[in-house]
Amino acid sequence: MKTPEKFVIKGGRVLRGTVDISGAKNAVVAILPAVILADEPCIIENVPDISDVEISIAILRQLGAVVRKISPNSYEIDGRGINLWTVPYQWARKMRASYYFMGALLGRFGHCRVSLPGGCPLGDRPIDQHLKAFKRLGADCKVDCGMVDITTPNGLRGAQIFFDLVTVGATMNTILAAVKADGLTVIENAAKEPHIVDLASFLNSMGADIMGAGTDTIKIRGVPYLHGTCYPVIPDQIEAGTYMVAAAATKGDVLVRNVIPKHLESIIDIMEKIGVKIEQYDDAVRVFVDGPLVKANVKTRPHPGFPTDMQPQISALLCLAEGTSIIKEGVSDARFQYVEELRRMGADIQVDGKVAVIEGTGSLTGAPVKACDLRAGAALMIAGLAANGITTIEDIFHIERGYADMQGKLRALGAEICKAPVSHEEDAKHEQDAKKNAV
Ligand code: EPZ
Repeated sequence: MKTPEKFVIKGGRVLRGTVDISGAKNAVVAILPAVILADEPCIIENVPDISDVEISIAILRQLGAVVRKISPNSYEIDGRGINLWTVPYQWARKMRASYYFMGALLGRFGHCRVSLPGGCPLGDRPIDQHLKAFKRLGADCKVDCGMVDITTPNGLRGAQIFFDLVTVGATMNTILAAVKADGLTVIENAAKEPHIVDLASFLNSMGADIMGAGTDTIKIRGVPYLHGTCYPVIPDQIEAGTYMVAAAATKGDVLVRNVIPKHLESIIDIMEKIGVKIEQYDDAVRVFVDGPLVKANVKTRPHPGFPTDMQPQISALLCLAEGTSIIKEGVSDARFQYVEELRRMGADIQVDGKVAVIEGTGSLTGAPVKACDLRAGAALMIAGLAANGITTIEDIFHIERGYADMQGKLRALGAEICKAPVSHEEDAKHEQDAKKNAV
């Protein structure tokens, strides 16, 4: 069992220089399972070096795929030998996005048995819309003992599908299940995130017939054969936004490279309202601050709105701004667990349901904190970079699920950050001190 590690950050350093953004986590976790549908080997490039990719590849190999790493960020995957269609809990619990194996295995074999995704700190995240879509395509779905058993007695047939709410996961899963179905599938009220367009582009590069990805109506005409392809994953919109906010929080000057500025429009809009200066280039944005940071009101929405995956990060920035900011979470059920940790660093935030009110204090103080999910961890990193003093962040496995070499990228920008083992003696001492202080 690997000794748990923590990040140790000495705050106050101004970030300066260039950071290169990696491939998009939320695209690659759907593209890797999609290779199951290919009738020839595929090469996937610009794959981020994150633990969600490691888990996806481990599941592909367990199912019988041959996966060869041909460069630090490229894999050749041959799924023709896949002869299993079950993804048990011990694999699925490691990564919520394992539900994409349902759509891919269903699209390939006409049946699958996949564990329900594990619990999640973001609140209730059912998959009822995924199952609704599969049923519309002709599948029978049964849930027993935490496993979803899906069969298609008469095969998969194209259908008209209307989602009750905008859902990234169900939109992606439906594309995976429908791409080889018999006939035309029309998805109404589809999610429009960049990673949905990327999945559709990947499948179309193999000969699929998908139109309208990126709009709220996606049409998929089933095809019998998907040939091989060599496909680069798009840059990660949320990783880019995270480094943009980190630059602003330290009042730095950073060129964020290998981005698609169009994917960053809503993030740029909010950051400019806060007083951050942003220069846009073809595949980069320069972020710098030459004046005060001021309050802003933010509501997260499905794309092209402000992304929910940037909500914790922008909250950390607004703790450093002057004035009162209001954050409304419009997508996830419960995405303010990180606030308790920011309060330990001196943040003044009140939460009521899906609304947070932030009284900008202008500064934060380093403290020992814990990441409760991927983006909460990113927010604590940003707060630690800007805080006075030392911040330690535990449970950094959350961060490493979705950020490739965050420590290395931040150090290259001038941050004072390192990893250290979590020593339980230290924990005991913290608890003793806390008890003493509590008396
Ligand atoms: C994807 O999650 C992302 N994960 C999340 O990113 C992101 O926060 C989310 O989309 C919204 O953009 C991946 O892509 C792997 P949803 P997903 O289906 O697919 C409800 C990160 O930080 N819902 O759009 O689970 C659901 O409860 C992660 O990178 C249903 O009610 O999101 C949620 O409140 C965290 N029934 C809302 O819709 C369903 O069948 C949005 O869910 C499906 C979803």
